[in-house]
Amino acid sequence: MCGIVGVIGKKNTTEILMQGLEKLEYRGYDSAGIYVNDQAGHDYLVKRVGRIKNLEAAVDDSIQGTLGIGHTRWATNGKPSVANSHPHISNDERFYLVHNGVITNANELKRQYLLDIEFASETDTEVVVQLIALFAREGLSAKEAFRKALTMVDGSYAFSLVDRLTPDTLFVAKNKSPLLIGKGDGFNVVASDALAMLSETDQFVEMKDEEIVALTQDGIAIETLDGTPVHREAFTVKMEEGDASKGTYPFYMLKEIDEQPIVMRRLVKKYTNDRGEVELPKPLLAALKAADRLYIVAAGTSYHAGLVGKGLFEKLAGVPTEVHLASEFGYNQPLLSEKPLFIFLTQSGETADIRQVLVKVKAQGYPTLTITNVLSSTLAREADYQLGLYAGPEIAVASTKAYTAQVAVEALIAQGLGEAKNHREAEAFDVVHQLGLAAAGQQALIDQKDAIHDWATDLFSQSRNAFFIGRGTDYDVSLEAALKLKEISYVQAEGFAAGELKHGTIALIEQDTPVVAFISDPKTAAHTRSNADEIAARGAKVLRIATESQSSEEDQLVVDDIDPMLAPLLMIIPGQLLAYFTSFDRGYDVDRPRNLAKSVTVE
Ligand code: F6R
Repeated sequence: MCGIVGVIGKKNTTEILMQGLEKLEYRGYDSAGIYVNDQAGHDYLVKRVGRIKNLEAAVDDSIQGTLGIGHTRWATNGKPSVANSHPHISNDERFYLVHNGVITNANELKRQYLLDIEFASETDTEVVVQLIALFAREGLSAKEAFRKALTMVDGSYAFSLVDRLTPDTLFVAKNKSPLLIGKGDGFNVVASDALAMLSETDQFVEMKDEEIVALTQDGIAIETLDGTPVHREAFTVKMEEGDASKGTYPFYMLKEIDEQPIVMRRLVKKYTNDRGEVELPKPLLAALKAADRLYIVAAGTSYHAGLVGKGLFEKLAGVPTEVHLASEFGYNQPLLSEKPLFIFLTQSGETADIRQVLVKVKAQGYPTLTITNVLSSTLAREADYQLGLYAGPEIAVASTKAYTAQVAVEALIAQGLGEAKNHREAEAFDVVHQLGLAAAGQQALIDQKDAIHDWATDLFSQSRNAFFIGRGTDYDVSLEAALKLKEISYVQAEGFAAGELKHGTIALIEQDTPVVAFISDPKTAAHTRSNADEIAARGAKVLRIATESQSSEEDQLVVDDIDPMLAPLLMIIPGQLLAYFTSFDRGYDVDRPRNLAKSVTVE
């Protein structure tokens, strides 16, 4: 993962780097560092382990310059330490390099070319910077040495390189990892995500894989690795809707949970016309109508939203839909239908596992749609069609409002497609009304935070494991609620199809094992209820969450009624809040859980 930034031609380079890194902290927060050069013979390198605030504390006003690079790290090769943090330096102290990605042949390159070199770190990045220095010592210019190294590395990279001998140029290159150039007046910047540099410019130039760029304060010279010059116009990046500040909330996650009703209403406005009908872009609608099968490809929480989408597309639009984990699909492609259409569900739009699938299926000529919260992201740019989630910036690593936005957008597309196909189910469904119910029902749940906090304490304060059960879309919610609890509270949690427990896993139920049962679907409510009774009879502590029409006296939490296809929009709220309060009570950093990053740009 990791985030990188670079600046050339601005007096307040240090400040821009630090602000950029803060914005990119969601990409990793194991360690961070900057290198600043004043192009007049003075330069500075500062690195610290941990969050950006540790680096901030070490950066003072004396660190000034007009050229600089910065990095926030999510460790891949080598543990988090000052030595392993970026920028990495060649032993002759000529080259400084920051990197996002993984070089898979670093050890081979080290053995083949760098046997005499003493390494300061365990990273693949240092191998690359030492290799560049070696080629420069052999007589190549900085750019040619960089290019030669790039032709030899395998894997993914976004690099930003400074040569101390030519501090009027910043070199960058990318392959598979994201990197954008920001174009300014008398300066240029680079960043893993436009968000990091939006305070400086809204004009960005896309970089394609295997391109190398030399940036000066007035120039952007793009070339392919084989030396062919490329001209590319800048595009404008608009600020995402929504407020990125935490306000009075203790953590972003709680703020983002609270924003979900607003997002539901915003989505209705974005996707419907004055008559309240869903309107999809015409070319996309035509492509969707032509498809005989939809393939939703996603990871983590977005995959769980995809599972809910399958039911929506099949029922409302009558189109068979498969949901695949991106990390599996790319290397084990199933037999495809004759006219598939691929839907990439991705909050960040940068997930490497998903991008490798996009690249492969585009090469096979299939139509692609990215649904993302970041319309300037790589996956949005590279797909044939793109639709927004309009959830506003999601800063907490654990995804909440992006998940419910994904489900809502799937419902809107399914209804739009179903109506265009005159599908009876779509004509009988009123997605606008249902999303209105979702917004109101979410608010009612959010208003019961204190009670949900009490249940979190009761269920999870002493436990190391937990189960979430349900059937149909309640099973989809169980998977997502379990993931939320795992990732921020470090409680071993499993989401289970309620009917499956008795086929083996019920052996794990002990006295006071916490179990949350979701009950919203009239077809299966009675069965899930008896599954909950079976485990309660074996000592489990069961929290039953049911929709009003399916509820009974024993239920602790009653949720507003909604069509079962969209029940996840409500059922997940207590799941999110249970995870939040468990993490909060344990004193964890809710927004920045250990070992994770918001945008997963390595495979
Ligand atoms: C969990 C979470 C992750 C992401 C996954 C895919 O809360 O956020 O599981 O859903 O890493 O990320 P995107 O949606 O950005 O492709």
